[in-house]
Amino acid sequence: MKKKSKPPVRAKKAAAGNGKKTPALRDLAARCGILIGTCVAPKLDEPDYAEVLAREYDFVTSENHMKWSCLSNAPGVYDFAEADRMMDFARRHRQAVHGHTLLWHNCLPPYLRGYAGSREELIDMVRVHINTVAGRYRGRILVWDVVNEVFADDKADFRPSVFSTVIGREFVPMAYRFAREADPGAKLLYNDYCLEGQIPVKSDFCYQTVREWLAEGVPLDGIGFQAHLDNKSDIGLAAEQMARYADLGLDIYVTELDFRVPLPAGKAMLALQGRLYRDLLRVCLDFPTFRGFQTWGFTDGCSWVPGFFKGMGDSLPFDVKYRPKPGYHGLRTALEECAGRRAKTAPPLV
Ligand code: G3I
Repeated sequence: MKKKSKPPVRAKKAAAGNGKKTPALRDLAARCGILIGTCVAPKLDEPDYAEVLAREYDFVTSENHMKWSCLSNAPGVYDFAEADRMMDFARRHRQAVHGHTLLWHNCLPPYLRGYAGSREELIDMVRVHINTVAGRYRGRILVWDVVNEVFADDKADFRPSVFSTVIGREFVPMAYRFAREADPGAKLLYNDYCLEGQIPVKSDFCYQTVREWLAEGVPLDGIGFQAHLDNKSDIGLAAEQMARYADLGLDIYVTELDFRVPLPAGKAMLALQGRLYRDLLRVCLDFPTFRGFQTWGFTDGCSWVPGFFKGMGDSLPFDVKYRPKPGYHGLRTALEECAGRRAKTAPPLV
């Protein structure tokens, strides 16, 4: 029997909490012609989590459950339950979906750890995996991170991985061609961290390689700037990096933003963080090919940051009790300014 899908979560209160219905981030973003979103953890059954997610955002990514290791633990065996749950939530709440990620050196299934098979077999496994996952969601994913984080952090090179070592760097063009075949309507992104200029050797090598991929006809539509940033981040430098990809005609996405700050974060630090959220979104909104802006989570109660950067945290726009922080208001400000400008410049309807 077909399982009955849950009714949509009601958008019960405006974030400003003043009783007046203020537009949510997603309403403002729509007026700016962009999507605004977040990654999603397996917490859709928690009413507050689901309510804020549905109310504020129109663009979602599964934080972990479309990664190869989360989908499959034996060749040819896939479990899509958690990914499907998010897809269903997104459909009920009219949210576009950003798929993350088809190929990554991290989160490999057991049968690819210590891989000892041939190059041809591995190419076939990559083709079948991409076909299985992107094929299942064909027509329902707006944009896929096809390949994630292939570049080294300390030199102009690819990082060692089962894919680069066994197949060679051609695995990247192959993966994009497989993804285009599996879901011809999805936009295909390259996604990475520190492309915002923190490691010049990495961001320059990425830019050069992306130009080579485009010259070879690799079906690449855009770049995902992960933007795992901190309180010392240089927004002007990030804008310069984005500009050169926008000049190539590529779509620009911010895919995993968080601004980590030292804990405990006082008022002044959170105010600074609010300005950083505002300023990054402001510069993005200036690029004609800027399409979507996502944070890596939305509540400080559910973020990878404290577990990874000791002593840092409080990096997201809502606090642990889902109260909006200065970061949230910073995003609103940037969107309100942009929506106001677009309203003034929009051509008259008659
Ligand atoms: O699900 C298990 C749970 O059963 C177990 O008890 C627990 C104990 O550690 O681990 C749980 O799995 C963890 C999973 O997150 C869910 O919390 C994994 O160990 C942990 O490695 C995994 O970390 C994720 C990480 O990617 C690796 O996949 C983070 O949540 C996720 O935020 C992070 O996201 C990445 C992007 O995909 C790519 N860009 C960088 C970004 C941050 O690292």
